[in-house]
Amino acid sequence: MDTVIELKNVGYSYPLTDNPAIQDMSFSLERGGFYGVVGKNGSGKTTLCALIRGFAPNFYKGTLTGSVLIHGKPTVDYEPGELSLRIGYVFQNPFNQISGVKDTVFEEVAFGLENFGVPVEEIERRVIEIMELTSITALAEKNPFELSGGQQQRLALASIIVLKPDILIIDEPTSQLDPEGTESVFEIIKTMKKEKKTILLVEHKVDLLAEYADVILVLDEGRLVRMGPSDEVLADERLIDYGVQLPQTAQLGNALIRQGLSLERPPVTEEQAVAALRRFVEVR
Ligand SMILES: Nc1ncnc2c1ncn2[C@@H]1O[C@H](COP(=O)(O)OP(=O)(O)O)[C@@H](O)[C@H]1O
Ligand SMILES: [Mg+2]
Repeated sequence: MDTVIELKNVGYSYPLTDNPAIQDMSFSLERGGFYGVVGKNGSGKTTLCALIRGFAPNFYKGTLTGSVLIHGKPTVDYEPGELSLRIGYVFQNPFNQISGVKDTVFEEVAFGLENFGVPVEEIERRVIEIMELTSITALAEKNPFELSGGQQQRLALASIIVLKPDILIIDEPTSQLDPEGTESVFEIIKTMKKEKKTILLVEHKVDLLAEYADVILVLDEGRLVRMGPSDEVLADERLIDYGVQLPQTAQLGNALIRQGLSLERPPVTEEQAVAALRRFVEVR
């Protein structure tokens, strides 16, 4: 095992608040894993992202207890800027990601690379490649602020993955996308996984998490209440208690089980659902 991110008994409170946003949280994430984070609004998902990226407490201040380790070193001990090389963080609101100093989408995607002093020819090559991957090539000459929410989300993703960080923290990247755009974002993230990147994705679309994520973390009131393989966690009706829906496949599976189908566990992926339905038909 190659642990990339580790939380040890982490608690965190924002400045001037009484209730901690994160409480007693411990887990570790392995290199190359695709981790999905679910939980209702205010359960601490964005705060968890900010803790891993080091924005909390380095930038937001507040009070941290326990430790957040990236490659074994506490985030508070990293030099400013050092974590930004290792961790790409796509904000929940893509508007916050746009630099505001560049006039075109092309320049915006190139911006981070310029800051890191990458040679011009390589910048061009990488920007063209990433704009293709994120389907924003046609927008290259547009002003970033003229884009729709969904286009801004793809731009935000592009401007991060172009930097090739080892770790990707992505906070609700599809909230403003249609189903097709959403599927394409998941495909992009899948490409990142093939490159052995460690991915933490906050996402409400459990049907897609079921297809793509390896492990699910469930947050509730700032605590980690469940962590396990997607197949197990997303099939469990207790998720509803935490304000998280089950994938449609699992809902159907649970209904079939109630109708007497003997299934070890409800399906969560499409493939598993088809297999379960075949058995249901055969048994009848
Ligand atoms: N900047 C902030 N200052 C104070 N409290 C905050 C701040 N951001 C979030 N919180 C609080 O922290 C808790 C967790 O919020 P957040 O991490 O944004 O949850 P989620 O992303 O799951 O919706 C909530 O109670 C929220 O009100
Ligand atoms: Mg959030």
